[in-house]
Amino acid sequence: MRSDMDQDLKRRAKKVLPDGVYGHESTKLLPESYPQFFSRAKGAYLWDADGNKYLDLMCAYGPNLLGYGDERVDAAALAQSKLGDAMTGPAPVMVELAETMVGMVAHADWAMFCKNGTDATTMAKTIARAQTGKRIILVATGAYHGAMPWCTPLPAGVIPEDRAHIQHYDYNSVESLEAAVSAAGDDLAAIFATPFKHDAFTDQAALDLDYARRARALCDQTGAMLIVDDVRAGFRLTRDCSWELVGVRPDLSTWGKSFANGYPISALLGSDRARDGAASIYATGSFWFAAVPMAAAIETLRILRDTEYLEHMIGLGDYLRAGLHQAAHDNGFGLRQTGPVQMPLFLFEDDPDFRVGFAWSEAMLKRGVYVHPWHNMFLCDAMTQSDMDLAIAAASAAFQEVRERYSSLQPHALLAQMFSARAAE
Ligand SMILES: Cc1ncc(COP(=O)(O)O)c(C=O)c1O
Repeated sequence: MRSDMDQDLKRRAKKVLPDGVYGHESTKLLPESYPQFFSRAKGAYLWDADGNKYLDLMCAYGPNLLGYGDERVDAAALAQSKLGDAMTGPAPVMVELAETMVGMVAHADWAMFCKNGTDATTMAKTIARAQTGKRIILVATGAYHGAMPWCTPLPAGVIPEDRAHIQHYDYNSVESLEAAVSAAGDDLAAIFATPFKHDAFTDQAALDLDYARRARALCDQTGAMLIVDDVRAGFRLTRDCSWELVGVRPDLSTWGKSFANGYPISALLGSDRARDGAASIYATGSFWFAAVPMAAAIETLRILRDTEYLEHMIGLGDYLRAGLHQAAHDNGFGLRQTGPVQMPLFLFEDDPDFRVGFAWSEAMLKRGVYVHPWHNMFLCDAMTQSDMDLAIAAASAAFQEVRERYSSLQPHALLAQMFSARAAE
């Protein structure tokens, strides 16, 4: 595998980007051999800057839902781009998209559009406060809701005032949620919850029904807004808000990543209960009204309604999970596969510093399969059973390779540093 171009780009990037690539797409916390730059993507596959091809189980951290460069979505986007994109006012597609989303998502009576998931979650927080006139926002410990000072996972540059009135509870714990609500007294504006527990570095966990129902009841009792953050899992669990699966309807839900199959748009959906608050705030952005991503979203959502994309991904996910389980077992590894099969996370037993996971991921990469050692992954509709066979065959060989190298594996230096800093906090 050649990696000259990637190395060269990394060197150049260090000079003109602060410490190289930043944020979730930085490879600083990934195994050494992971490429940082990709020159193209199509369907379920990615090519790095050196031309190496990978089956991509990260799907751009979510945006790739139907397959990279889906021709139906691209055609809709191209047709709109010939008419106009960022203009002095929105195009008719804005109303059509709002109608489409309100029609698909049961709790929603209205929609607002923005660019990134963080825009939507931050706006949800502001609307909850505007609607209720209260200040406290409850967030589950360890949950990711974006990269603004109120929610970013790294403390640099954040002052306590940025997080004033953000308080925490343990996801899925009725007791902890009740205690946090009670501590908020009569100042509770909102409870944030993810569709299931999909925090990094730890096993994923299914949504506990009692917790979801209690969150709804507590919001009803206090007048607070219930916010489901569907930015990551939206339309990967169901064709509605993810909590619709358990019959619990939030007041606000946040969306991003995948509903325009990679075109830049996110959304905040709300019920009439939050309409006045939403109407009262000032929220906008130069590109929030751009028409091309909206046209892409309308076509993506049509495909989601008209095809078996979800059932297809679940079928593939079941197949992959069973195949990997067998391959791990045959090679004497305890591989914990958690989360919905179409959004899997792989962690190894007895691997507290992730050295086995890192080595296995690198061995997968060498065999043309891009997996992540500590973040959940994503399947997409463009994947096929032969792609899953490729991943399972690569996994078998990767398990063997790691078994042979087991005694010489080393922890990742930066990750170890991060963990020890966290433990010292
Ligand atoms: C659950 C959740 N909320 C919010 C965000 C923030 O989205 P974005 O990175 O588009 O700002 C993410 C991103 O991964 C997410 O997973």
